[in-house]
Amino acid sequence: MDERFSHLYAGRAREIKASIIRELLKMLLNPDIISFAGGWPDVETFPSDEMIEIATDVFRNKAGSAFQYGTSEGLAELREALAARAREREGIKGIDPDNILIASGSQQAMELAGRLLIDAGDVLLVGLPTYFGATGAFKIYRAHLDGVPVDGDGMQMDVLEEKVRHHQAAGRRVKMVYVQTNFHNPMGVTLTLERRKRLLELAETYDFIVMEDNPYGDLRYSGEPIPSLMALDSNDRVIYACSFSKILCPGIRLAWVAGESALIRKMVVTKQFVDLCTNTISQHLLSEFIHRGYLDKRIELNIRHYRAKRDLMLEMLDKYFPSELIWTRPQGGFFIFVTLPEHLDAGALLKEAIGKEVVFVAGQPFFLDGSGRNTMRLSFTGAPADRIEEGIRRLGELIKSKV
Ligand SMILES: Cc1ncc(COP(=O)(O)O)c(C=O)c1O
Repeated sequence: MDERFSHLYAGRAREIKASIIRELLKMLLNPDIISFAGGWPDVETFPSDEMIEIATDVFRNKAGSAFQYGTSEGLAELREALAARAREREGIKGIDPDNILIASGSQQAMELAGRLLIDAGDVLLVGLPTYFGATGAFKIYRAHLDGVPVDGDGMQMDVLEEKVRHHQAAGRRVKMVYVQTNFHNPMGVTLTLERRKRLLELAETYDFIVMEDNPYGDLRYSGEPIPSLMALDSNDRVIYACSFSKILCPGIRLAWVAGESALIRKMVVTKQFVDLCTNTISQHLLSEFIHRGYLDKRIELNIRHYRAKRDLMLEMLDKYFPSELIWTRPQGGFFIFVTLPEHLDAGALLKEAIGKEVVFVAGQPFFLDGSGRNTMRLSFTGAPADRIEEGIRRLGELIKSKV
């Protein structure tokens, strides 16, 4: 599109680029396409009945507050409920409502963290690969982004330390490490306990903040839960973002951000100048959803639902994908990450797959350094269960014709 007024755009607008993945998601609207592309929850998990009941009550009895502006930090009763859950379910000691801000999705949490912490040229270390929505938000603030390889145990801490030292020796300020601890997007891997502890030590030694993004943590289908960085941290180094998009529904646009109380206060004031407050209607709905005990039930249902889909997709990959390929076996979340033989380009493969009415996400956009050409992300959540076999069969045949 001809950008007629680009000469009037701010310099930072150069960093704002449309994502190929978001463009691809438009295809989800075509019902004939089998999509393993979006990180979208299954529409079957959406809690319509409970929400009809709650919305009726809220609109009748709490209209004065639900339809009104709210405070920038978020609804008090919701923050209280979340603090109690964080203490009881996650073992985050001492967390109280002053440590919590309700954001419009965790995407906003990342935007606010960028706005609050990053000056142009500050170094921000992220996974290689990592979620492109995070890097996109940080780029707008002209962070100097650098990637740290992620393997089956999460981000590699020895490389992280080398990179921190390297940047500090070059006179750059390392401000923040952005990390996904559970069921990483796009790889599906989980950061081990040992590496979590090491990351917190490094944050203290080299004086940086850790942003822990954990939208998938409640969706564990196998293995033992590992305490979050937030729960392990005794030095207030962590900003913790937890979204309701994957465990409940993204349309509600709610997440909570936790951290040291003065930092959260500063983030609240920052948010005032962004959107005044998060959607108050949504906050009331969620607050009631939690108070009526529906959230825990819903998470349990979702775990059962997605576990079956994960198992089915893994079984189909074993059945239809050639043995030259390797893929992750996630213990939770939404994604399986496939590595193709070196000579294959997942972007080119995707174009052919679209012709066969099946889509996935090519891995390269998740790699800051442009690597990952031969990787792909498969989401097992969005496609109906009875289409997963057919989609993987088609993909498997396509790949077999190339290896
Ligand atoms: C790792 C990660 N962080 C954050 C988000 C954004 O989530 P939200 O809907 O809470 O803004 C996503 C969405 O896919 C994600 O995968």
